[in-house]
Amino acid sequence: MDHRVSVGDDVALKIDGPLSIRHLRESEREEDLMASADRQAITGGYGSLNGSLHTFLSEVRTDLEQGVLSPRVLNDPDLHRAELDRIFTKCWVFVGHVSEIPSPGDYVLRYVGEDQFILVRDEQGEIQLLLNNCVHRASPVCRAEKGNTSHFRCPYHGWIYKNSGEWNGAPYRAKAYRKLDADRWGLRKAPHVDSYQGLIFACLDPDAVPLREYLGDMCWYLDVVFGLKEQGMRVVGEPHRWIVPSNWKSGAENFVGDGYHVQSAHRSLSDIGLVPTERSAGLHVSLNNGHGVLVIERTVPESFGATDFPPEVASTFELDRLDDNQRAFLTRHSVVGFTIFPNLSLFRAAGVTEDGRPTAVQISLRQWQPRGPEQMELWNWPMVWDSAPEEFNRASYDASVFSFGPSGVFEQDDTVVWRGGPTVGRSVFARKGMKLNFQMGMDGMSDYEDIPDWMGPGEASTTFFGERNQRRWWQRWSEALAAS
Ligand code: FES
Ligand code: FE
Repeated sequence: MDHRVSVGDDVALKIDGPLSIRHLRESEREEDLMASADRQAITGGYGSLNGSLHTFLSEVRTDLEQGVLSPRVLNDPDLHRAELDRIFTKCWVFVGHVSEIPSPGDYVLRYVGEDQFILVRDEQGEIQLLLNNCVHRASPVCRAEKGNTSHFRCPYHGWIYKNSGEWNGAPYRAKAYRKLDADRWGLRKAPHVDSYQGLIFACLDPDAVPLREYLGDMCWYLDVVFGLKEQGMRVVGEPHRWIVPSNWKSGAENFVGDGYHVQSAHRSLSDIGLVPTERSAGLHVSLNNGHGVLVIERTVPESFGATDFPPEVASTFELDRLDDNQRAFLTRHSVVGFTIFPNLSLFRAAGVTEDGRPTAVQISLRQWQPRGPEQMELWNWPMVWDSAPEEFNRASYDASVFSFGPSGVFEQDDTVVWRGGPTVGRSVFARKGMKLNFQMGMDGMSDYEDIPDWMGPGEASTTFFGERNQRRWWQRWSEALAAS
């Protein structure tokens, strides 16, 4: 048991146990408060879940076993608060790509949940994620979306921080802060930042498992998308950002497994020949930790080589970096989408001529940023290979913007239908017993079965006509919220 009591400014008591009360020395008190602030800010500051949320989450887990889910999950403010506290401070969250900050001093503003951070490469070349709030009076210290700097100077009173986050000075320091302990007043930084295949993730939990362990078998699929050569994949410009009146989870859940909606939500695109009428030649790969992958049969003939790229691009790849199974995968399949729990997704598709010649390969990272329970900010990073001809990359970028940019034709279809989440979650009538259906593929509902000798890790299904990935994503979500 550990309680602190303050009276006025300078009396502090610490209750170590029921009968042990002692005064704290000033330095001990300061340390104690710092440690308490650290614990509160990093490992969850809103306390334990209330009993009704616990009960609800245990109902969610039972419901998912039956393939149903309460619509309350798509707009409840208490659940939203708990997500920020228990998912976004505990999970590894994507914050950017290494190509966005190639040089010392390069920085961009990013988010973990709804908190704004500075993602910066410091003078030693290390990547840091710094909370964009001054530790003096909380003013944002960085107001440009991107740039290059050795220091951040707070606009309020002028405190200065190195780009590694350390406190580096203040106006009139000799008069105002003769005894300030500079080591203790740097910007708060994420305890863990790491990258895999150029994707930078951060985790705010000091006790986090390593990134590779968190990604698990997803690494295999990241390799076949981003690992075709050691370097060279880059984002094009700054990520597109726009507000969508939907809950962030609708996007994450869609990209983890919803191949089924294409024939309906995107029907107008199949009507004009942009996507196949029926997408039954696809499969799900269900992975650990709530991650999942959507795979389709290649649209580019095998004669064009073991990737979807034209020969002049494919010849620059170093496929010996992949194992035999990964190379075999590339000759037959393409990753068309995935979600890494909680909120990073990918869309990837090859545009082809009638004889199957690749004209463009669009690759977009997409992130579903929570902005309250009823809104998300959607971020979209089109990506290209440096070794591809400029014309091919331009076509690939245009395809990304045309399909999944802010005005993209696919994008509009999806964001219109996702608006139903907040409205049904708000409906008092819906709350009285309405359940959403997640039963496709369960118990003989379709031909959804495991492929017995799948070439990669995870459980691969024989068809898209199932919702195992979505159920598992929600299972992971409910477990993350309920964890102590
Ligand atoms: Fe930053 Fe005062 S708020 S220096
Ligand atoms: Fe869609």
